[in-house]
Amino acid sequence: MSIAIIVHGGAGNIPDEEIDLYIAGCRAALAAGWSLLQSGASALDACEAAVRIMEDDPIFDAGTGSVLTSLGTVELDAAVMDGRTLRYGSVANLRHVRNPISLARRVLEGPATFLAGAGAEEFATRHGLERCENSALIVPREYALWQRRRAQPQTAALDHGHDTVGAIAIDAAGNLVAANSTGGTFFKLPGRIGDTPLVGCGLYADARVGGAVCTGWGEAITRLALARRAVELLERGMEPQAAADLAIHTLANSANDGQGGCIILSPDGRIGFARNTPYMAYAACVEGSDPIWGC
Ligand code: GLY
Repeated sequence: MSIAIIVHGGAGNIPDEEIDLYIAGCRAALAAGWSLLQSGASALDACEAAVRIMEDDPIFDAGTGSVLTSLGTVELDAAVMDGRTLRYGSVANLRHVRNPISLARRVLEGPATFLAGAGAEEFATRHGLERCENSALIVPREYALWQRRRAQPQTAALDHGHDTVGAIAIDAAGNLVAANSTGGTFFKLPGRIGDTPLVGCGLYADARVGGAVCTGWGEAITRLALARRAVELLERGMEPQAAADLAIHTLANSANDGQGGCIILSPDGRIGFARNTPYMAYAACVEGSDPIWGC
């Protein structure tokens, strides 16, 4: 079985001076996941490691560096889905967990499947995950944007930077895993949850068929159950690139007028990625081929 991994750093309107940082962050995430896969680690380990790197990189809207809510706080969501068992772990509305993807991974092990808010934070404490002050997740760039938005409340939702990170990997044992993590949308209402932790919306993984991870305006993605829809296109025999193109075409042209992107990986290592936003940083590596990256 050929190992493979694809990661993305969020669809959005990335400022020119930040594009290299997005690509560098995706390449660092790819390298971490790839080196684990090469050493025989599981796709779960590879996806968790790749997403953690992006959560810790302040350029991305995930973990440290996330966008702020209308109250000026950070609220984090994440999920991981195991394509062999179809088990998943989802977490939402976290304010004090430094790496939500690691909590999602722990939730996947049971007994619950989706934990939010205070219960999720308590579960994180009980399982020894790293906690932090909410202010430790806030970077000066995002605080300045929040201050500006507060003074001009009519600005559009995806009016700057970035949205969500994600990864899909296949390990040497043939399992396929999808994972993602986000701070959500800029100036969101406290308590708002987007597509990211919702199975079938922000992510889907079936080791027999393939996996998809979405990024962008979560409300529109959720209405279409876009990740499941993309995997269904693979089920019908579509190439991953054609499936990604059609999924984003549907997102853009439905009544939703949605904006976003998606990455797709088939069980035999074919990749697809598409966006209808100005940018979406990505990086991918498939055994036997040179790595690719772009934005
Ligand atoms: N795509 C992330 C969100 O809407 O929350």
